[in-house]
Amino acid sequence: MSLERINALIADGEKVAMLTCYDATFAKLCDAAGVDVLLVGDSLGMVLKGAEDTLDVSIEDMEYHTKSVAAGASASCIMSDMPAGSYELSKETALINAKKLIAAGADIVKIEGGGEMVNTAQYLIEHGIAVCAHLGFTPQSVKKLGGYRIQGKTDESAQNILQDAVAMDKVGVGFVLLEMVPALLAKTITESINAPTIGIGAGADCDGQVLVLQDLLGIYTGPASKKPETFKSPRFAKNFLTENNSIQSAVQAYVEAVKNNTFPGKEHSY
Ligand code: KIV
Repeated sequence: MSLERINALIADGEKVAMLTCYDATFAKLCDAAGVDVLLVGDSLGMVLKGAEDTLDVSIEDMEYHTKSVAAGASASCIMSDMPAGSYELSKETALINAKKLIAAGADIVKIEGGGEMVNTAQYLIEHGIAVCAHLGFTPQSVKKLGGYRIQGKTDESAQNILQDAVAMDKVGVGFVLLEMVPALLAKTITESINAPTIGIGAGADCDGQVLVLQDLLGIYTGPASKKPETFKSPRFAKNFLTENNSIQSAVQAYVEAVKNNTFPGKEHSY
């Protein structure tokens, strides 16, 4: 699905259902289940490679999985993460790496952070690359942020996230993805910018929602090195497979729940 089509859908008041996806088989299934955007997330470092965080993902990993997803998808839009180290050094390096993901089949790339990343986003957009800005909790900065913590709780940090979102919107990003921020802040941002917002742990007022596919299926149990019973799934995750008897119907139920605004509930928000 083109970005124009997604914007038309939002203009008609429809919510955007986004889901992570890393391979052709799931891409085919999610596409058929009506997922609007398949996110080839660098969460694959945790979900597929078994790491503690997303930091050990290379541009080659992202190209490989983007190609796999593109092979299976036909209707869905494909968003690919620029992995840590592939865009922060210089905007020129960012452009070279973004072009690799587009060549692999991505329609849009996602970068994490506001501040100095605004110039990078602008440079990519000026060179014809559609960009999604990931704000709030940014997993590639997990060490700097002191762990998996909700962001934007104080007035000052909420203002900073809002300002980053406005700055990213001004340079023309295609989406702003908000992770683990108070629902009220996500609502304010959604009302303040033109770009559609996609939330994960950001309340029901965003223009769309994203989940990690393995969280939706209730099968992610933490890093490979940790015992599954020590894993506590995040507040924003919901297992849709418990109420459905196939993966296909669980994904369809997620899409429907996003579209009719029954997911996320207050219990999934901050
Ligand atoms: O990599 C990823 O899966 C993501 C989501 C958590 C939004 O960025």
